[in-house]
Amino acid sequence: MNTDNWITAVLALRKAKHVVVFTGAGISAESGIPTFRDADGFWQRFPPEQFATWTGLLRTALTRPQLVAEFVLNVVEPIAKASPNAGHLAVAELEKHVKTSVVTQNIDGLHQSAGSTDVHEIHGSLLEVVDTSAAQVIRRFERNDLAQIAETLRQYATHQISLFSLLRQLRKEYPFDWLGRHRPNLVLFGDAMAEPAWTEARRVVDQCDLLLSVGTSGAVYPAAMLPDWAAGRGAAVVTIDPHPTGDCPLAGNAGTILPRLIGDAFGTAVTSNPDAGT
Ligand code: OAD
Repeated sequence: MNTDNWITAVLALRKAKHVVVFTGAGISAESGIPTFRDADGFWQRFPPEQFATWTGLLRTALTRPQLVAEFVLNVVEPIAKASPNAGHLAVAELEKHVKTSVVTQNIDGLHQSAGSTDVHEIHGSLLEVVDTSAAQVIRRFERNDLAQIAETLRQYATHQISLFSLLRQLRKEYPFDWLGRHRPNLVLFGDAMAEPAWTEARRVVDQCDLLLSVGTSGAVYPAAMLPDWAAGRGAAVVTIDPHPTGDCPLAGNAGTILPRLIGDAFGTAVTSNPDAGT
């Protein structure tokens, strides 16, 4: 860890009036949810050409429905079982000290579960069902509801029930319609960003004086523009990731770095060098 960067980040937090925490899959990795592009990531196991668009998914479902059930199970089950980790909790703690907005690409609802109150989910949420014709969220799930859906998918993915039974059972648990009008509130490749989250995200990024970018590869646009956008408006940008880039990179896991950083900025136990341990 570079001590100068650490001190720069602590001082930026201390003097900030409005912090945006911009998060990606990395912040939820320590809650057991795989990232997309790491060695064990989703897109390694389920190629995006087949699974990252609605058309691709539909096409795959027509020929290999079991594979799609397996993919959906792999998305739903870790989120159903997850709870916030030290990184999410530190972000929630931050808003006790400074105005904080969270802009997340994650669909797992873990920032809200941790207690963050101003969260903008720009790629949507697995816990919401949307009516696409009215662009309206029509139902919100609890995390427990997802566990039941995961169980039904598991039955199918492991050969125990027919496709017809799967769909009939799923419709009891999940209000999709056959025309694809009611579906999970998820942004797949090629979709417009989730609204009003994206408009709100741009507004808070415009207003912030510090953006913490946490656990994102910055590979997916337009989300990846946000740190540059903040910097262009004069905000400081700090990047927290095992492989960080940018002007003020802090290398490490979110669950380790965030509590220490926020502790050093606002708490009593101050470590000028995080490698010294606390
Ligand atoms: P990626 O999988 O592209 O990147 C995950 C990032 O998290 C990498 O930079 C890792 O180094 C980092 N990371 C891994 N473990 C970490 C930890 N414990 N603490 C902190 N960082 C860690 O995921 P995203 O950047 O979130 O979009 O991906 C962006 C979008 O690509 C997703 O929202 C999704 C995906 O396709 C859509 O599907 C539209």
